[in-house]
Amino acid sequence: MRARFTGKTVVLGITGSIAAYKACEIASRLVELGAKVIPTMTRSARELVGPASLEAITGNRVILEMFEPLPNPEIEHIAVARRADLFLIAPATANILAKAAHGIADDWLSTTLLATRAPILFAPAMNTMMYLHPATQANIALLKERGAAFVGPGEGRLACGEEGPGRLIETPCILEAAAMALYRDKDLAGRRVLISSGANQEPIDPVRFIGNASTGRMGRALALEALCRGAQVCVIAGPSEVAPPCAAEVVHVRTAAEMRDAVMARVADCDMFFSAAAVADYRVAAVEQAKMKRTGPVTLELIPNADIVAEAARNRRAGQVVAGFAAETENVPENAAQKLAGKGLDLILANRVGGADGAIGAEDSEAWLIRAKHPPEALGRASKSEIARRLVDAAAGLLGGQGAALG
Ligand code: CTP
Repeated sequence: MRARFTGKTVVLGITGSIAAYKACEIASRLVELGAKVIPTMTRSARELVGPASLEAITGNRVILEMFEPLPNPEIEHIAVARRADLFLIAPATANILAKAAHGIADDWLSTTLLATRAPILFAPAMNTMMYLHPATQANIALLKERGAAFVGPGEGRLACGEEGPGRLIETPCILEAAAMALYRDKDLAGRRVLISSGANQEPIDPVRFIGNASTGRMGRALALEALCRGAQVCVIAGPSEVAPPCAAEVVHVRTAAEMRDAVMARVADCDMFFSAAAVADYRVAAVEQAKMKRTGPVTLELIPNADIVAEAARNRRAGQVVAGFAAETENVPENAAQKLAGKGLDLILANRVGGADGAIGAEDSEAWLIRAKHPPEALGRASKSEIARRLVDAAAGLLGGQGAALG
């Protein structure tokens, strides 16, 4: 996520919802990710939170009034409108949505929103009835039609006691949506991307299982990359430490067999399939129905699971791209190239694993991009987001063509 925000200027517009206090957390995460945050609060937001904490968090003065004497011409509204990489309105009330939809410019935020050509992202937060009101819904539809992005609202119990949509969506979802809005080149718009991610758990008995150390970070990075580039993303997620991005459709599975069924049910509809899951190669032949007692030594018979990515590659249609990963301890590009050919894939991202630097779950690893009929391309040590970018670039290059392995 860091690379997506470093050096970017985000105008954080805070409007008068009870959730205004959560803007401090949003600002703080944006600053941590390397963004320059220019905070601005409407008059009603100031009734709910004081500007002092926002100033401390962002290191910038909170812009409050249109005609206040400015200590620094850098925060004059037209200057900010031009300089911003993103306008994030969080929380966004029904009032700011109405003003933005109708071009009303009666304070600093609404005026600057009218003047900017930067992407605009709204995170609505309001009472359910206000949110569902046809006027608000029409305003949202109009703003979307003009290119504004929306994240949330969440559903649940609101401060007013009502239940329903209207709660400010969680900060991680807002940050992901901000990353997506910041990314201007939507080269995968209209494309469907399927990703398997995380580990599998193969049960031994009702309380024990065989698992592996996959964290789900690679699948998450791929999903975020594809979402940023405008794709519709579905993640078939095995158990993992990290959750897939909020904007992805997620199907939770546990075993390799469940993962296979979920992938096969959707793969025909997708343009790209990335098999990032650490699929369990074996399952227990006879799962005990009752919890096994500790007696003496135990021998488990394991039987092989289906190879999901190979099956997806066998059945793919022309123009569809199927990519996998290869975690190898030695002869990495050579072994990965063999895996690519054996499974009939278009692309493989090969990683060195094992040893002190190559542990599964490490932030970055030595990687190679393997393509059919091309020499391996060494990527050096690369982070998961860099790997995701390179792999999606390579897959995008093959889209609509024959698919390297089919050609
Ligand atoms: N894979 C799969 N189904 C399996 C095993 C692996 O779809 N039953 C996919 C993985 O998601 C990955 C690729 O195949 O994209 C390679 O996984 P890896 O574990 O490196 O290879 P294996 O085929 O399991 O071979 P080995 O463990 O013998 O190296």
